[in-house]
Amino acid sequence: MAPRHQAPRGTRDLLPEESARWRWVEAQAHGVLDRYGYGEIRTPMFEDYELFARTSGESSDVVQKEMYRFKDLGDRDLALRPEFTAGVMRAFLEGGLGGRSRVHRLWSMGPVFRYGRPGKGRYRQFAQINCELVGSPAPGADVEMITLFVDLYEAWGFKDLTVKLNSVGQPASRRAYGERLRELLSPFGERLSEDSRRRLEQNPLRVLDSKSEADLAVLAELGARLPHMLDFLDEADREHWNAVLAGLDAAGVMHEVDHGLVRGLDYYTRTAFEVHDASLASQSALGGGGRYDGLIEALGGAPTPGVGFAIGLDRTLLVLQERGLAAAAGDTVCVVAMDATRAGVTALVRELRRRFRVEADVEARAFNAQMKSAGKSGARFLVIAGEEEWARGEVALKDSKTGEQKAVRRESLAAELEARVSRQESTT
Ligand code: HAM
Repeated sequence: MAPRHQAPRGTRDLLPEESARWRWVEAQAHGVLDRYGYGEIRTPMFEDYELFARTSGESSDVVQKEMYRFKDLGDRDLALRPEFTAGVMRAFLEGGLGGRSRVHRLWSMGPVFRYGRPGKGRYRQFAQINCELVGSPAPGADVEMITLFVDLYEAWGFKDLTVKLNSVGQPASRRAYGERLRELLSPFGERLSEDSRRRLEQNPLRVLDSKSEADLAVLAELGARLPHMLDFLDEADREHWNAVLAGLDAAGVMHEVDHGLVRGLDYYTRTAFEVHDASLASQSALGGGGRYDGLIEALGGAPTPGVGFAIGLDRTLLVLQERGLAAAAGDTVCVVAMDATRAGVTALVRELRRRFRVEADVEARAFNAQMKSAGKSGARFLVIAGEEEWARGEVALKDSKTGEQKAVRRESLAAELEARVSRQESTT
């Protein structure tokens, strides 16, 4: 019989094998975030629609066509979060964090929702790790953020990552740059995509962020005639930009300037950055972020600078899997019992489960059937509770890694397994 329901388009289930990889990725991230001194902040999955509309920008794709907006039964205008930053800043103000100390380091992890066209690495529900450093305008804050960004990827096994960087300046310099782009692009109006003709009116910088082939062809044709945002920076922004580049050099973080990097959300000022991977479509970033010095003020708080990023976990896992980078699962112990030892083995299994991942039969199957499952399971250790050994207070332990098999006293089994596992950990 065909199942009656399927997961909604753009969503998917993580079955146990895949969620084990997710948990490994999350655990690595927890370690890095902890060592960088970031604290977790958890905010609701939905907020007032206005909060996102005001911060992401009325002309952004997120607001124009990607928001899961709904009315609840009390007629409130709400939306599922399309990103973390707006909600985190709302919570920052509502929780009075600003008054407590000057600089705050915050992280969040969880699902976000965007109604886009699903594809490879593009979902309508996806997960992000989001980090924010709130309260400092200093270039050192940008450098810490970008270093943390890269160190998270390194903890997952990515090597030689290059961060793409740009500065998007201030609203005034961005407007001047936008005007110049509009002048240059208007004569090509007919050839631009419908989206970009609209962008040209509302926010010309977004044409640079277009994924349409027609738009990319126009941009390529303009080539060297296209000015760069960096040429429009005021003096303070230029100084900030140079200090960020110097800081990244000092920290040993590889980076390259990408003049076309404009980011899809409106709240950015100064530094903007992204990481891409060749295995995803060229416009699909693995993660990105930047500085947002006007955001908290726009939400009614005292002027408070901030810088942050989000990493798309679904895309990161896709790349990790394609490259075989995610760590293998830990060692499993498979315990096989006989009719006469089955009852006694349950206590041993329970004890081993305090420390190890243990598989054991629950159906009173015959010895041969259990051995067959154990062979298929890929478990590293096989513990056989044979009748005679059990009577002597022993079990047989087989280590498939070394091929060794030996009798072990029941009471020293946990210590024996522990020693073998930690010997291996110290050599990897
Ligand atoms: P964003 O660039 O919009 O930034 O999203 C960050 C990451 O989320 C992307 O680089 C990508 O990996 C992932 N992502 C976005 N859309 C999808 C999708 N449809 N399917 C799968 N993954 C997706 C932000 O969200 C900002 N709030 C980041 C930030 C924090 N800026 C400052 N603080």
